[in-house]
Amino acid sequence: MAYSNTAEQLEVVSSVSVSDEFQILTDIYNEHINIAIWQHTLSSNILKESQYIIENAPSLQEVIAAEPEHAFEQLSSSHRALKASPALCDHIAVLVDMFCTLFEAKRAGVRLSVLDKAMCPKFHVDKIPCRLVTTFEGVATEWLLNEHVDRSKLGAGSQGLDDEQSGIMTVKNAIQTLEAGDVALLKGEGWAGNEGKGLVHRSPKLAEGKKRLLLTLDLID
Ligand SMILES: [Fe+2]
Repeated sequence: MAYSNTAEQLEVVSSVSVSDEFQILTDIYNEHINIAIWQHTLSSNILKESQYIIENAPSLQEVIAAEPEHAFEQLSSSHRALKASPALCDHIAVLVDMFCTLFEAKRAGVRLSVLDKAMCPKFHVDKIPCRLVTTFEGVATEWLLNEHVDRSKLGAGSQGLDDEQSGIMTVKNAIQTLEAGDVALLKGEGWAGNEGKGLVHRSPKLAEGKKRLLLTLDLID
């Protein structure tokens, strides 16, 4: 936690905002926040469709420039496994709409992937303004609170050591884990004023034979 000393009291200022209300995502505009998490429970239909996609499209990698008003059709027509997954496509279309509204964007870069290994296995920051991430099935993204990070150990500073040996985590049990269904906005180093404060995160390790279904939304214009 970062602390700001006001005239009358010591106020705790957290770098994370969490709620089961989707409006929490607007907190990403707060200068102290580098991750906003909407704790969302997925419907049973979305859970079934996510499992179906993992089983029937195990190497799915869909990349779409989605416009809010057409996102559902764009997704549904992009792959036969998605055509058979209307609840998931509808949910993603809602997220595209929210993301574009939040950032006043005409479209969002959608990436929907079935993964069987960690894409970015070491803790890192993204050199972009902001990314939405949500996992529909399987283990989800791991991240660190600002106050638990030694940023001198990022990248080459780790001297090739893995995260458990490099000293990047300054306390025990520092690793925070999103849950499947959680919708998170990760503020990166490219957000004006957030240089040196980008959210530190990594892909989770996957057990042998396990897969996950991950969605990311990016600003592309
Ligand atoms: Fe990343």
